[in-house]
Amino acid sequence: MKKRIVAGNWKMNLNKEEATTVLQGVASYVASNNMPADVEVVICPPYPYLSLACELLKDSDVKVGAQNCSHEAKGAFTGEVSASMLADLGVTHVILGHSERRKYFKESDALILKKTRAAMSAGLNVIFCVGEDLHTREDEGQYLFVKNQLKDSVFMLSSSDLASLVVAYEPIWAIGTGKTASPEQANEMHYYIRDQFAENFDQPTADKLTILYGGSCKPANATDLFAQANVDGGLIGGASLKAEDFTGIIAATL
Ligand code: PGA
Repeated sequence: MKKRIVAGNWKMNLNKEEATTVLQGVASYVASNNMPADVEVVICPPYPYLSLACELLKDSDVKVGAQNCSHEAKGAFTGEVSASMLADLGVTHVILGHSERRKYFKESDALILKKTRAAMSAGLNVIFCVGEDLHTREDEGQYLFVKNQLKDSVFMLSSSDLASLVVAYEPIWAIGTGKTASPEQANEMHYYIRDQFAENFDQPTADKLTILYGGSCKPANATDLFAQANVDGGLIGGASLKAEDFTGIIAATL
């Protein structure tokens, strides 16, 4: 069954008290609503709050994700966190290839592929981000751009690895800008991504792939975005920082 996912990416935001409030608010919403069997809710806090999140959500259906992991399994890598350490805590997902990591931390497709392999070896599900910048979209180069991001990374995986892969299409021009891709723009790109997976792997594998939209998704636009045939949920930044906004987006899956 193809999953639909609403994942919150807190980025480097919230303190411990605020984090607790959001985690409890989302957990209580999920517990008191009849969530469809194909819907998964994931919250990705910064590293220091992962233990807290795993502890607070241990009896909840809300899953915990990290925002990064090392490409190495262990050793002398000061400041790094391995995928198996995350799995050890109860973390089930990790966001990799986010445009902010590509831009500010110069992460290449090759490094992101190594991280993806490390995460999958530790049993984590990978939320793998792709997406073009404004300049590329204005030049109508978005399809080629995304194709190249996939070609040099996840298309190197084996088809059995794809069971733990989720793709998030996040046009950079829509992230944190308040400017959302239209439902049609999102659906077109998601259709294209699925088609690329069908070409590189096979159609049944592509049909099972969960493809999320990310970029200024909020309660007011989530219903229209999620109604698109190829949009299987969202990766939510700003609107995941308040329980009422995030649960307003989860409500769009009910
Ligand atoms: P945004 O961020 O929802 O604040 O635009 C999305 C993301 O970067 O994952």
